Amino acid sequence: MLWFLTRLSGGGSGWVRENGRVDSETPRSETPRSVVLLGSTGSIGTQALDVMARNRFRVAALAAGGGRVDLLARQAAEFGVAVVAVADPRAVPALKEALAGLGADPVVLAGPEGVAEVAAWPCDVVLNGITGALGLTSTLAALEAGRVLALANKESLIIGGPLVKRLAKPGQLLPVDSEHSALAQCLWASGPSGPDLRVVRRLVVTASGGPFRGRSRADLGEVTPEMALNHPTWSMGPVITINSATLVNKGLEVIEAHLLFDIPFDRIEVVVHPQSIIHSMVEFVDGSTVAQASPPDMRLPIALALGHPGRLPEVSPPVDWTRAHTWTFEPLDDDAFPSVALARQVGEQGGTAPAVYNAANEVCVDAFMKGGLPFLGIVDTVAKVVGEHSPGRAESVAEVLGADEWARARALELTA
Ligand SMILES: NC(=O)c1ccc[n+]([C@@H]2O[C@H](COP(=O)([O-])OP(=O)(O)OC[C@H]3O[C@@H](n4cnc5c(N)ncnc54)[C@H](OP(=O)(O)O)[C@@H]3O)[C@@H](O)[C@H]2O)c1
Repeated sequence: MLWFLTRLSGGGSGWVRENGRVDSETPRSETPRSVVLLGSTGSIGTQALDVMARNRFRVAALAAGGGRVDLLARQAAEFGVAVVAVADPRAVPALKEALAGLGADPVVLAGPEGVAEVAAWPCDVVLNGITGALGLTSTLAALEAGRVLALANKESLIIGGPLVKRLAKPGQLLPVDSEHSALAQCLWASGPSGPDLRVVRRLVVTASGGPFRGRSRADLGEVTPEMALNHPTWSMGPVITINSATLVNKGLEVIEAHLLFDIPFDRIEVVVHPQSIIHSMVEFVDGSTVAQASPPDMRLPIALALGHPGRLPEVSPPVDWTRAHTWTFEPLDDDAFPSVALARQVGEQGGTAPAVYNAANEVCVDAFMKGGLPFLGIVDTVAKVVGEHSPGRAESVAEVLGADEWARARALELTA
């Protein structure tokens, strides 16, 4: 059962008219869609604001960590936001000063409770663009409050799978990850009445291969943070960029695909596609494969989630079909990049195992960035922590966060 998919519409109440012509704005009679944006100062957050600035949206509230208060204040002032939250209470005085300097006077909430309050704020859609396991509380708060949730923060679904699935009602959760947005679009092509898992043979998740595609394990020993942060096709926040270099991100996405689409792990393939034009594919039982293609630009899946079930006009330039292109596909090298196989293993185990994989990885990425762990040590350490863990139930926040805490402590010991 697909518990989040509702059909894309081309209908008159959406953004695209039935005759296929697009309006540059929603019909004037429609109230702008209101959005709560969590992680507004990050890569997803700033791209989401770019999409919203060019279409009829209202930004109801913003939240961020507190590391970039000047940017947060500028966003609040530019979009006339009524409520702003920062996770780090120490950032509040500087934020208030920056807001006052811009003549803006929104309500300011502080601490993780303030961010969770904003996640539940009345709006049409909440976009969770927080990075890491920290996003779980906000995901749960938004779902509990009955909000439609556009989910970029894959970690919250991966670590809190059973909790999130129990709370999410049909149509409430929309994927923002480009691969899952692509899979959802391909699944809509199952048949005339929408997604039908009975005719799906496999999900094929594409991976750029990251900056070290083609290298052997022996070649990866000397990789520095600077080299790992140099992604060939996507510009993203630092954690997901390192995760793309180790392919942990692809491992997380395999678990995410399993949880979103209820397809068993042995029917989810990963294929390396260096050009990042095909964002994923669905193979059907008749031998047909449907793929979603567009130049790499996160504004597209963001817009699809924010505008759901319609499509916004001219979000991003399409593929230029007047030029010659070469798209290539190759198998994943599991020896150089064991992170995907390890993710499949923890995904199959379920319970707290994915939370442990993710938490250990977050600690190891931090240690690598600070120069305290070699590149290969990231996944080697995650594997060690996962190997020492006996998965338990992940039915409550306490169970998930308990496993997360244990894994962080163990990974810290191993990387000290
Ligand atoms: N970037 C992409 O292209 C992309 C693509 C697919 C999926 N994703 C997923 O989207 C999520 C965000 O990624 P990103 O690349 O945008 O990360 P990012 O650039 O590092 O941004 C993270 C955002 O989260 C905020 N934040 C940190 N801690 C917070 C907290 N406790 N409460 C509220 N906000 C907090 C940060 O605020 P400060 O600025 O104050 O630190 C920042 O606004 C991740 O789960 C990632 O895997 C990203």
